[in-house]
Amino acid sequence: MIMLKGKTAVITGASRGIGRAVALMMAESGADISVIFSGNEAAANEVIESAEKFGVKAKAYQCDVADFSQSKIVCENIFKEFGKVDILINNAGITKDGLLLAMSETDFDSVIDVNLKGAFNFARHLSRYIMKSPAGRIINISSVSGIAGNVGQANYSASKAGLIGLTKTIAKELASRNVTCNAIAPGFIETDMTAALPEAVLEKVQTAIPLKRMGKAEEIASLALFLASDAAAYITGEVIKVDGGMYA
Ligand code: NAI
Repeated sequence: MIMLKGKTAVITGASRGIGRAVALMMAESGADISVIFSGNEAAANEVIESAEKFGVKAKAYQCDVADFSQSKIVCENIFKEFGKVDILINNAGITKDGLLLAMSETDFDSVIDVNLKGAFNFARHLSRYIMKSPAGRIINISSVSGIAGNVGQANYSASKAGLIGLTKTIAKELASRNVTCNAIAPGFIETDMTAALPEAVLEKVQTAIPLKRMGKAEEIASLALFLASDAAAYITGEVIKVDGGMYA
């Protein structure tokens, strides 16, 4: 069993879906957690209560990750509360799908701002603390759309491909401080994000997946847990797909 006892983890977009699964799996493994949420305070509090049952310290912080100054204040408050940060999971993300020919400037900008700039903001403001950890970890949740591209997702695919560049750069810049940085590229995972897709699209997608089913949030969380652990100390700058063989 992987243990993160004594570690402090910050997970963005952790009130539901993949972020929630990561937060709870890390708490179960003994890590103290900061749950970053944007709007749903009740959902964030439910994650905190569930995490506390594992005997760890857990706090929720409301923050729009796309906002540089707000992110800075929240990161400083986390450090004041916990005294250290070892692990950052940049998970917050949105989709605003549409074909290139019709995509609005606002839909392009907002997806880049949350998915890519949001990850930059948290890495930028927390890396000064993570560098002081004996085994710092930054894990960015990218997507297979960022590797392969996807019709209707010019904004999303660009943001997720950008995250891969960010990951590889952070890996190189912080390696001398023993901080690793990796990206996870999920395929189709059962969350509110994919529940919004039309039934016909979901059926088509599942036929195209060799394992013939969508993934579960916990199947992303278990990789995040491994990457955050001492067992993954020599893995950095990697992009690992978790997609049921879709893009193998
Ligand atoms: P979700 O929609 O269930 O959760 C996303 C979370 O991010 C929510 O808690 C939301 O409140 C938060 N968030 C959105 N904008 C925010 C902002 N400005 N500031 C702070 N928090 C914000 O989605 P899901 O599926 O759990 O996705 C998590 C991550 O995994 C996302 O980055 C997504 O792009 C990525 N992903 C998901 C896949 C899937 O099939 N579900 C596939 C590939 C990647």
